[in-house]
Amino acid sequence: MTKCIIRGFGRYAPKRIVTNFDLEKFVDTNDEWITTRTGIKQRHMAAEGESASDMATEAAKRALADAGMKAHELTHIIVGTFTPDSMIPSTACRVQQKLGIRDQMCVDVGAACSGFLYALETARGYLALHPESKILLACSEVITPRLNWEDRASCVLFGDAAGAVILTGKNAAGAEDTPRVLDIMLKADGSLGDLLMVNGGGSADPYKLGTIVDEEYFVQLEGREIFKHAVRKMSAACEEILEKNGVDKKEIDVLLPHQANFRIIDAVGRKFDIPAEKVFSNIDRYANTSAASIPVAFSEAVETGFIKKGDLVLLTAFGGGFTWGAALVQF
Ligand code: UT7
Repeated sequence: MTKCIIRGFGRYAPKRIVTNFDLEKFVDTNDEWITTRTGIKQRHMAAEGESASDMATEAAKRALADAGMKAHELTHIIVGTFTPDSMIPSTACRVQQKLGIRDQMCVDVGAACSGFLYALETARGYLALHPESKILLACSEVITPRLNWEDRASCVLFGDAAGAVILTGKNAAGAEDTPRVLDIMLKADGSLGDLLMVNGGGSADPYKLGTIVDEEYFVQLEGREIFKHAVRKMSAACEEILEKNGVDKKEIDVLLPHQANFRIIDAVGRKFDIPAEKVFSNIDRYANTSAASIPVAFSEAVETGFIKKGDLVLLTAFGGGFTWGAALVQF
């Protein structure tokens, strides 16, 4: 099996920060409710006209610099997002344009909050076919314009951000082959898709010229149901990947879950007896950034030394679709 090596990390968050106290001014909510129910204290919000590809490009430049690589060396660009710049062209093509390069294969992957893990598995497939590939995987979400600010049950939960990694199959001569993706497992259950969706404007619910935007255009979710499924399915995915790879839960050095709700993160950690100090969370500062949440958290955990050389890292995600999964990374 060709190796999938992470050569560089990068992240970007828009300058504007909106705290729970800021939200209190225009949403029927309060800091105490949001903090105790979710762990969120603030979120970043994209500037007017700042697109998913703008943010992905910034994160990509930082990941390329971290990898010591130039953009023109890339062979593939994969973007994970549910908030693309447009239907056509893909956000990956826009990122390519903004990096000032040509001829790479460019594709978007849509798996909502599981987008990073789905895109990572896609990249592993390309690397298996073409081990010489140099892949940019960027996940970028501009969710805040897709929130119904009159629906307090959903609008307080999300934020905007982008995270990127550079992946290669072969490594430079003499260099170490870590951090290395050891395994990924992914699942989905489309029968539960209606519990978390953005329906309006798609082919199932097309807008006609002059249609007034209604709540269908925005993120709609059944929070309580999603919560239960998220805990159960992320836990099951973690259990399955550990068993398949003969890894005992005690061997996990860092658990890095998708950042949707601190209570979900805590519940998954408890199920695996992973002490809180080994569980990475930055949801207080970013809220839920969907596909971007894992690469942003990963990049921060590496930069701050939370993840150290030699650590065995367990990633897990859950999102709309429903989609979910887990990955093991040897750092
Ligand atoms: O990554 C996948 C996407 N993630 C998600 O969709 C999030 C998953 N779900 C969750 O994180 C939690 O279910 C929520 C944070 C969304 C909600 O927490 P909860 O403990 O399940 O609360 P609830 O929905 O059962 O609501 C409890 C109460 C309700 O009031 P009543 O009926 O008990 O009087 C809500 O109206 O809290 C009220 N409420 C709020 N109050 C203040 C709901 N949203 C808010 C709010 N501020 N923003």
